[in-house]
Amino acid sequence: MSKLVGAIDQGTTSTRFVIFDEQGTLVTHHQMELEQHSPQPGWMEHDPYDILDSVRTCMLHAIHKLEGLGYTTRDLTSVGITNQRETTIVWDKLTGQPLHPAILWSDARTLETVQQLTKKANDNTHILEPICGLPLTTYFTAVKLRWLLDNVPVVAQAQEQGRLCFGTMDTWLIYNLTGGAENGIMVTDVTNASRTMLMNIHTLEWSPEALSFFGLDQVQLPKIVSSSQIYGELSDGPLAGIPIAGCLGDQQSALVGQKCFSAGDAKNTYGTGCFMLFNTGDQPVVSTNGLLSTVAYQFGDNSPAYALEGSVAVAGSSINWLRDNLRVIQNTHQLNELAAQVDDSAGTYFVTAFAGLFAPYWNDSARGTLCGLTQFTRLEHICRATLESVCFQSKAILDAMNKDSGKPLRSLKVDGGMSNSDLCMQIQANLLGISVERPLMRESTALGAAIAAGLAIGVWKNMEDLESVNNQGKTTFENAISSEKRDTMYDGWMKAVESSYGWAS
Ligand code: G3P
Repeated sequence: MSKLVGAIDQGTTSTRFVIFDEQGTLVTHHQMELEQHSPQPGWMEHDPYDILDSVRTCMLHAIHKLEGLGYTTRDLTSVGITNQRETTIVWDKLTGQPLHPAILWSDARTLETVQQLTKKANDNTHILEPICGLPLTTYFTAVKLRWLLDNVPVVAQAQEQGRLCFGTMDTWLIYNLTGGAENGIMVTDVTNASRTMLMNIHTLEWSPEALSFFGLDQVQLPKIVSSSQIYGELSDGPLAGIPIAGCLGDQQSALVGQKCFSAGDAKNTYGTGCFMLFNTGDQPVVSTNGLLSTVAYQFGDNSPAYALEGSVAVAGSSINWLRDNLRVIQNTHQLNELAAQVDDSAGTYFVTAFAGLFAPYWNDSARGTLCGLTQFTRLEHICRATLESVCFQSKAILDAMNKDSGKPLRSLKVDGGMSNSDLCMQIQANLLGISVERPLMRESTALGAAIAAGLAIGVWKNMEDLESVNNQGKTTFENAISSEKRDTMYDGWMKAVESSYGWAS
């Protein structure tokens, strides 16, 4: 029987446990929706225990399904973890109890903190880019930790008393799954650490300069480790004793799951947000066009691979907003059906800047803007404009990537929830003007973490062994519009983006 590898995929809106075989075939999985809390405009939080519970529940149910297929837990060789990045958790070293809800990557409460830091940097938001590859914005972990220390007395007190544990989601999960306050392991992998603004992406070590800039010199940080090695063993539950051997931020994990291992390979994942990553090989490339430079993966002692990233803050979450806040649709399927009933959006543009705009605009003051409405506009047009919004933002990112790399991309691999929509992927191919390739097995994010764990444990001995993994076929979407039409549509989008600026109070 094939050796199996499990992957915990802890995303912003859901948690999954997915089990793969040696061919990268999905054997079974379990998924749970995850609640986000928004106590104030622009604030986004999770309960760290909800997340932990969801991970444990997904593992239990997936194992149960696995046993139903005739396997035993002994067939599972190892577990990899992939997670929403930048989300910040603080807890007490003595008790293991969280000191505050997890602050989500998309949370914009740190606007003032960012303004203060920008002033300190003489208005140069790019001051730390040569070290960490990232600009100063509300998105990254260090500003969230600075906000917690400045605004939450129990966090500041824990820090003064040497009891403060800080981590991104990978650290929180590995710590708890390996024993928590008893003897939990405090690590973070290079890809997650590369999203904090605190790691030097060239040396893969915490940067004293960056720590000092944020006034975080005294904070105890998790140990930085590679994305593929044995970190520890699961301490309890049906998989107790099985090694955790892979860890990657979810976007880097999807890059690995799509096997974008060569410089020039790129993928776009349409999840809660949408993230395009372009492998730049063994050197980081500093963007001059609004993209991020980030660590793509590091397998064991090998040199790391780097990526240019274009991040879109709102993708699938715009569909949830139409469903939960406006209550005009019941599910994604209905949105797609409505959007397919019209040939175009009739001049409607929806800039989904609910908490500012990320790449390549980086405008914290932008807010959601629906424009071009007329008496003729119907819900169908707004649904279509919602799909187009993420596709326009992906086009802006691809244009920036082509400028930075100097080598235009010819095809783009896609995955994630919205990539299930043929209509959305056709719109994407039209707006990019290149082919869009969607694999049959689209759990690329989970597969990446499984690959990392399987490499560490010897399920796959080397990169050549991965050639047969996840080759189950693909669907290709080709551009079907003229460049004139694309340009006209994009001009409208850029006008709409301009109108979204300056609304944040
Ligand atoms: O940087 C944020 C990203 O990791 C979130 O991913 O899949 O939850 O949209 P996702």
